[in-house]
Amino acid sequence: MVEPGAFDRIAQDRIVPVVIPGEPIQMEGLVEALFLGGLGTIEITLRSETAIDAISIAAKQNNLIVGAGTVLSVEQAENAVGAGARFLVSPGFDPAVVGWAKRNDVPIIPGIATVSEAMRAIGSGLHFVKLFPAEQLGGAKTVQAMGAVLPDLKIMPTGGVTLKNLTDYLSVPAVGAVGGTWIAPADDIVNGHFAKITERAKAAVALSLSL
Ligand code: 3PG
Repeated sequence: MVEPGAFDRIAQDRIVPVVIPGEPIQMEGLVEALFLGGLGTIEITLRSETAIDAISIAAKQNNLIVGAGTVLSVEQAENAVGAGARFLVSPGFDPAVVGWAKRNDVPIIPGIATVSEAMRAIGSGLHFVKLFPAEQLGGAKTVQAMGAVLPDLKIMPTGGVTLKNLTDYLSVPAVGAVGGTWIAPADDIVNGHFAKITERAKAAVALSLSL
């Protein structure tokens, strides 16, 4: 069987749990909880000291597509991919990080907040961007308006996405996927509250499949 690429799996799931690992890292339990909930990708943000170790552990779990989030520099991109990350997400558009990812054939989803930034991403040969911070920028209506003028672009709204507004976002044709910490908040991971994580993942998947 050919292993699916990162973008294929993200497009299939349409929901990317964004996680901030703490201590203890608890990756095996978290990944199991997400699988039970029907999700097979994870974005581990480089905002904690345990992030690179968490990526290494997650990358060893079968059938999981693990990515690194909050990638702000080429050095971070190199470290994350060295640890096993198969895609990169950044809150903004840094030409050096995007250039490195493209040269190394690593899928990257850079952050954008305006149509001009989205056009810069398209000009760099990218077709998938993260709208960040989505809710603060106007939510699903903003994604709808951007998608209408940029028909070849897929958008991953992140920032303020929850079960309450998930339908609004996923109903927008330009939305390839959404990202967010609501499924697996840092406290639940550290405290091993995996049943709650599975429950939230299941609720999100059910909503997505109902559209
Ligand atoms: C991110 O790291 O992409 C965002 O901080 C996630 O935003 P959220 O916590 O509002 O989901």
